[in-house]
Amino acid sequence: MTQKTAIVTGAARGIGLATARQFLAEGRRVAMVDRDAEALAEAAEGLEGAVPVPCDVSQPDQVAQMMEHCARELGRIDALVNNAGVADFGPIEDTTFARWRRVMDTNLDGVFLCTQAAIPHLRATRGAIVNIASISGLRASTLRVAYGTSKAAVIHLTMQQAAELGEYGIRANCVAPGPVNTKLALAVHTPEIRAAYHDAIPLNRYGSEDEIASVIVFLCSDKASYVTGQTIASDGGFQSTGVGLPALRTGQ
Ligand SMILES: NC(=O)c1ccc[n+]([C@@H]2O[C@H](COP(=O)([O-])OP(=O)(O)OC[C@H]3O[C@@H](n4cnc5c(N)ncnc54)[C@H](O)[C@@H]3O)[C@@H](O)[C@H]2O)c1
Repeated sequence: MTQKTAIVTGAARGIGLATARQFLAEGRRVAMVDRDAEALAEAAEGLEGAVPVPCDVSQPDQVAQMMEHCARELGRIDALVNNAGVADFGPIEDTTFARWRRVMDTNLDGVFLCTQAAIPHLRATRGAIVNIASISGLRASTLRVAYGTSKAAVIHLTMQQAAELGEYGIRANCVAPGPVNTKLALAVHTPEIRAAYHDAIPLNRYGSEDEIASVIVFLCSDKASYVTGQTIASDGGFQSTGVGLPALRTGQ
C-alpha cells in the first residue's frame, strides 16, 4: 500500500474539514474523525478517499477503537492532525471545574490520547503529527483561563512528543491559528471582539480555514522533513506584535 494517508480529528467542519480536503486534493486517503456523527457523514459525502470515523477524542476506549479502525481501513498511517477542539470563554471566577474539565478533556487529553494510540502506526511510516493550538496558547488574555491554558499545554506537549518520538523518525509540530471565521469562533467572538482583533492583527483581518490548513499540510509533508518540535503561528502577525496598540499605528 503506497498511497499516503492522514487522520484528521474534528474534521466535520471548519479548519479540520479544510485540512481533510487539502490532503485529499494531494492524493492522500483521509480518516475524518469527529464526535458529531451526523455532521461528519454530511461532510464526508462525495469526498473520494475520505473515511468518516465517528469518535469522541476525549474518551480513551473510543480512541483505541478509532485508531484500530483507521489502521485497518487506511492500511497505513502517515500523519495525525490533532485538530478537534472546543472553546469556552469566561472569567476565572465563573469557570466551574466542570467547564474547565470540558475544555481540557478535548483540547489536551484528546491530543495525548490520539497521539499515544497512533505511535505504533506512525513508527512504521516515520510519520508526522501536527497539533492545533491557538494564539491563546502563546499569549494570555482575559476570559481564556481554560482555553488558553489548554492550548499552552498543547504547545508544550508538542515539544515532549518531538523530543521522545524523534528517534522513531516521527516529527511533531504545532500550528497556532489566529482568529478564523468558524462555528467555534462565531460562538465566542462578539462584534466588539471581532473589531478589536482586526485592530490588533497587522494583516487587519481574520484568517481563512484554508490558510491554516495549508500550514498543517506543509508540516505533514516531506518538505518539512527536518522540522520538528516547532510551533508556527498562522495568525496575520498577531503573535509578533509586542506592543500592539492600535494608537501607535500610522496610515489608518
Ligand atoms: N476558529 C478559530 O478562530 C480558532 C483559532 C485558534 C485555534 N483554533 C483551533 O482550531 C481547531 C479547530 O477549530 P474550528 O474553529 O475549526 O472549530 P469548529 O467548532 O468549527 O470545529 C471543531 C470540530 O471538532 C469537533 N469536536 C469537538 N470536540 C470533539 C471531540 N471531543 N471529539 C471529536 N470531535 C470533536 C466538533 O464536532 C467540530 O466538528 C480547534 O482546536 C480550535 O481550538 C480555532
